Amino acid sequence: MTTLSTTSEQARAGLVRSMSDSGVLSSPGWADAFRSVPREAFVPRFQLRSRGGDRLDTYTEQHPGFHEAVYQDTSLITRWDDGGTAVSSSSEPSLMARMLEAFDVTGTDRVLEVGTGTGYNTALLCHRLGADQVVSVDIDPELTAAARQSLAAVGHAPDLVTGDGTLGLAARAPYGGILATCGVRRIPADWLRQVRPGGVIVTNIGTGITVLRVDGDGAAAGRFLPDPAAFMIARSTPAQVHHRAGPYAGLVMNGIGRVTREDLSDVRDTDGFYLDLMEGSALEIALIQHDVLSVVLTVEETDVYGLVHPDTGSWVRIKPLGRATAEITAGGPRDLWNERVTLTTRWVEAGRPGPAAYTLTVDADGMHTLWREEPASTSWQL
Ligand SMILES: C[S@@+](CC[C@H](N)C(=O)[O-])C[C@H]1O[C@@H](n2cnc3c(N)ncnc32)[C@H](O)[C@@H]1O
Repeated sequence: MTTLSTTSEQARAGLVRSMSDSGVLSSPGWADAFRSVPREAFVPRFQLRSRGGDRLDTYTEQHPGFHEAVYQDTSLITRWDDGGTAVSSSSEPSLMARMLEAFDVTGTDRVLEVGTGTGYNTALLCHRLGADQVVSVDIDPELTAAARQSLAAVGHAPDLVTGDGTLGLAARAPYGGILATCGVRRIPADWLRQVRPGGVIVTNIGTGITVLRVDGDGAAAGRFLPDPAAFMIARSTPAQVHHRAGPYAGLVMNGIGRVTREDLSDVRDTDGFYLDLMEGSALEIALIQHDVLSVVLTVEETDVYGLVHPDTGSWVRIKPLGRATAEITAGGPRDLWNERVTLTTRWVEAGRPGPAAYTLTVDADGMHTLWREEPASTSWQL
């Protein structure tokens, strides 16, 4: 027991050191929280991708590499839905640290966390702000029940609620801030109503983490953190299964549709263009085409790329035929190829701006506008 807790303390200290050295952790308060809260108390069983990335290993407390695995700076998957999609995890600590550092609330404000999951992030909030100030909601009753036990085991009893956190939690409002560890497609109107003027909303939207200040008129505006990040998208019920690209792989591979041969030689830096096209790391593309999924398939050592829009059954198969030419086969009403090429070309020509280049405004009527000032002032209504 003594050996185990020493290992845990050492591992926590190592994690804090590396997050401080890399500049992710800057405030003594959050460093103290990460140093004090044992992550293993929240992840008695989890799955972790092997170093080569080719398989998932299951860890329990009995596993010899348990502590080493727990304190890796990576997300630990704790729950899957029936279709094999991960629906809960303990998020990557450095990403949690970035979001907590941006979650600029005072100790006198009550805060709402959306996406309790394992309860580890809830425990960090409790350690820093006091459990009396922390309300946390998860859609899945089994998760809130397990988190309640884990939190109690480390001495915290925050207000844990089962429900759809995209509705906020009006009964406990107003909040000094809302921190969501699941992604949203739009900033929920209830969040804007429930955060007090001057309060903060930190959430994943698209491929970025936005930090919004709420004003007194029900609107909000703010920047994005510099690094791309994407969480599991919020579900409206525990059983909701989001569209995944996997089931469309057969259609992308074998589908019969309109065939064209496209010359890409006008596109700058053709080498990385397919990756830019598929990766979706561009914030503006992720937000504009939030409902388009991408899939990369390797056939006889050649990559074949696919885009799918499940709602309309539209798809496109992109087969590179050398550096500057591709065979495009498409089906369904939506022209995903031209949409994506236009968006990607514009983003590449702008110098591949990262999330820090953008700001988001949400007005009181729910209108979302994404802004980018460089290289030229541009905006998109989402
Ligand atoms: C990445 S995990 C959260 C990680 C968590 N903060 C932790 O430290 O373990 C995302 C969580 O969001 C939850 N979730 C999904 N949709 C939700 C919703 N509409 N309202 C509240 N929670 C939701 C999932 O059940 C899942 O537990």
